[in-house]
Amino acid sequence: NICLLFSWATIVLLSLTRIPGRYLTHQEGLPKLPVPPLNQTCDRYLAVLEPIIESEELNQTRTLVEEFQRPGGVGERLQQGLERRAHKAENWLSDWWLQMAYLDYRMPVVIHSSPGVVLPRLEFSDRQGQIRYAAKLIAGVLDFKTMIDNETLPVEYLGGRPLCMSQYYRVLSSCRIPGIKSDSVVNYASNKTPPRHITVVHNFQFYVLDVYNSDCTPLTVDQLYVQLEKICNSSLQTNKEPVGILTSNHRNSWGKAYANLIRDKTNKESVRAIQKSIFTVCLDAPMPRASDDMYRTRAAVQMLHGGGSRWNSGNRWFDKTLQFIVGEDGACGLIYEHAPAEGPPIVALIDHVVEYTKKSDIVRTPMAPLPMPQKLCFNISPELKKDIEEAKQNMNIMVQDLDMKVHVFSYFGKNIPKSYKLSPDAFIQVALQLAYYRMYQHCCATYESASLRMFRLGRTDTIRSASVDSATFVRAMDDQSIQNSEKVALLEKAVKAHRAYTDMAIRGQAIDRHLLGLKLQAIEDLSALPDIFMDTSYAVANHYNLSTSQVPAKTDCVMCFGPVVPDGYGVCYNPMEEHINFAISAFNSCADTSATRLAHALEDALLDMKALLEQTPKAKL
Ligand SMILES: *[C@@H]1O[C@H](CO)[C@@H](O)[C@H](O)[C@H]1NC(C)=O
Ligand SMILES: *[C@@H]1O[C@H](CO)[C@@H](O)[C@H](O)[C@H]1NC(C)=O
Ligand SMILES: *[C@@H]1O[C@H](CO)[C@@H](O)[C@H](O)[C@H]1NC(C)=O
Ligand SMILES: *[C@@H]1O[C@H](CO)[C@@H](O)[C@H](O)[C@H]1NC(C)=O
Ligand SMILES: *[C@@H]1O[C@H](CO)[C@@H](O)[C@H](O)[C@H]1NC(C)=O
Repeated sequence: NICLLFSWATIVLLSLTRIPGRYLTHQEGLPKLPVPPLNQTCDRYLAVLEPIIESEELNQTRTLVEEFQRPGGVGERLQQGLERRAHKAENWLSDWWLQMAYLDYRMPVVIHSSPGVVLPRLEFSDRQGQIRYAAKLIAGVLDFKTMIDNETLPVEYLGGRPLCMSQYYRVLSSCRIPGIKSDSVVNYASNKTPPRHITVVHNFQFYVLDVYNSDCTPLTVDQLYVQLEKICNSSLQTNKEPVGILTSNHRNSWGKAYANLIRDKTNKESVRAIQKSIFTVCLDAPMPRASDDMYRTRAAVQMLHGGGSRWNSGNRWFDKTLQFIVGEDGACGLIYEHAPAEGPPIVALIDHVVEYTKKSDIVRTPMAPLPMPQKLCFNISPELKKDIEEAKQNMNIMVQDLDMKVHVFSYFGKNIPKSYKLSPDAFIQVALQLAYYRMYQHCCATYESASLRMFRLGRTDTIRSASVDSATFVRAMDDQSIQNSEKVALLEKAVKAHRAYTDMAIRGQAIDRHLLGLKLQAIEDLSALPDIFMDTSYAVANHYNLSTSQVPAKTDCVMCFGPVVPDGYGVCYNPMEEHINFAISAFNSCADTSATRLAHALEDALLDMKALLEQTPKAKL
């Protein structure tokens, strides 16, 4: 099976015609997320610790794990609790995960949670080009939305099995809402009167743009163009308070400021209009010019944080699930709030929109004049003004701290690993392990997201890319005393081990969400936290110096996100047939990390691994 062999994320689309209620029928037919056997998880946990934990420490952990899974012990009790939960719930994990990974997470969503997507640079450098492209993009998203509304969205398959489609139904007309201690997410898509408007922001000023005619047909590109031009014409002054920058703050601070903001009736209505809108379009001011080879890196930071309070960071509502960004200088992409969805559905939407915008211009129809889009007003009290200033400062510190590098690896793509019958994703992950080992002389806990969408309401589990086999290979690779034929065998073994972990993860048999479930079950039972969760090994295993994700797209784009630890890297990549787009991030405040250095080490690792395979006659494989 080609699809299974080469890439778990190669998703097959089956086009279908409309069948009302199909979405629900499809969802109900999906299997439930299993709870893996306790002994299996315990054994695999010890195995993943091996390459990242010293043996003395590991011996201690082994004792704790044995105690944990002893017959009649605490592990069994928690496992039974988890199994009961799994029996009752549609998905034993999804609510816990949403709460824990997103809504209770208090760091700013900017850089720390929301991924960006960089699209290829567009061929315009003026307002007119910007508005024309934005109009087409909006029309493209509305075209995609028709498939969601009609339930004609093709069901995706992975390895021959249908996937959960619920994330597609959660990304439009939705928004995160800050709280003092925890956030929430609202979705208006299934309301009795679903929203008919988007929000457009230009020069920090927000507008409501109705995107449907009274007969429920979407506005044409020409109609959208005129409406966007009206918005731009009326928002030329640039001295407005950037209210939107409040959404970039630490969640507790923003939660407090939010309560304050919506105490005013006008503000409350304006905020509600943004939250209810189908999505947001940010018409960005031009950014300082960058050379062609720096363009993608510069665009990545624009998508992730807007460039700081002087530039476009105030031209956002970071709580909004989907924000498309079109700059006057041709920069284009999006940022999305992570709570409702993973990258793949977002990229599928992008692929559709990019194809749509390539269509030649639509026939011009005579247009009835449309009303002026409504501007959203905000009353800024002195207290809010203070909150805005504080948010600006924090944002500028974050901007200074982000070390970002988009690197296009141009020597090969999926083609080379495939020609050696190796999974491209596993090949890239092993190269990352080699690059990291060469830089730091040790292996680190590595996270790669695995899709759990074979199961109803499935989100992700972790593929742990640092394995016993990858560690053996990276240590051997630069060892002069080892024969090339042996290195090739070790490389192959490491790639296959990664492939096997991936298969296990997408079948719901990985260890990380299960361990988390056992821990949360203990908290729910109000019992003491078992020792295995208080153990140093557990903390180290969850300190991901490498946080990675493969997000394949048809479009020549790349998704990007920040590191998840202060001394680590975020690495996202889109493997194309003959090149690979990498987005690598780190923090400048950490002296030990450098996005550019990792990019170079990764390039060397990929080339060296290819050279190794080439030098060794195929017959020996
Ligand atoms: C786990 O335990 C079950 C029975 O309780 C046994 O059948 C299975 O072989 C064990 N698996 C492992 C990986 O030890
Ligand atoms: C760990 O335990 C094994 C056997 O259980 C023992 O052989 C080994 O010496 C121990 N290693 C350390 C570093 O304590
Ligand atoms: C989908 O919905 C649109 C309007 O929302 C309608 O015009 C179209 O006929 C529908 N298509 C199908 C296949 O149901
Ligand atoms: C926007 O302003 C320009 C220049 O003043 C003008 O030519 C154009 O007609 C205006 N567009 C709209 C839709 O009002
Ligand atoms: C990665 O993680 C380890 C263990 O938590 C830590 O000691 C190390 O300094 C981290 N950073 C780098 C760049 O290796």
